[in-house]
Amino acid sequence: MAKLNILKFGDEALRKVCRPVDVITPKIVTLIDDMIETMRAANGCGLAAPQVGILRRIAVIEVEEGKVYELINPKIIAYTGEQRETEGCLSNPGRWGITKRPMAVTVRAQNRYGEEYELTGKELLARAICHECDHLDGKLYTDVQIEELEED
Ligand code: NI
Repeated sequence: MAKLNILKFGDEALRKVCRPVDVITPKIVTLIDDMIETMRAANGCGLAAPQVGILRRIAVIEVEEGKVYELINPKIIAYTGEQRETEGCLSNPGRWGITKRPMAVTVRAQNRYGEEYELTGKELLARAICHECDHLDGKLYTDVQIEELEED
């Protein structure tokens, strides 16, 4: 496994719409492993492929230690409610904002084995799902931020 370089806000790769994954090759599996390692090393709870310069629809999420979700070609299929909570991004270190997000979302995605699954998350997990799916469309949390917080 390898730790990857995380691109920062302002890098144009973060504004691209990513391509779907058609075939989950060994290279894609390695990328997912590297993304998990990179996310953990940076103490993040999510990471999307464009953040490491790969414009494919892949993200990883770990809001609860040891519980990693791999999202290949994720699609949000349902959402409900609303939350206004703190959000940050590994591509924007040390900065935070309040965003408006659904309280709960259901996403359909594939794992590394190509198995399709559905995941419903609320609160932090819902925010992470929305945040990572947005990355795959070139959208950043600051686009949906309703208030910017002080730098820490
Ligand atoms: Ni992010």
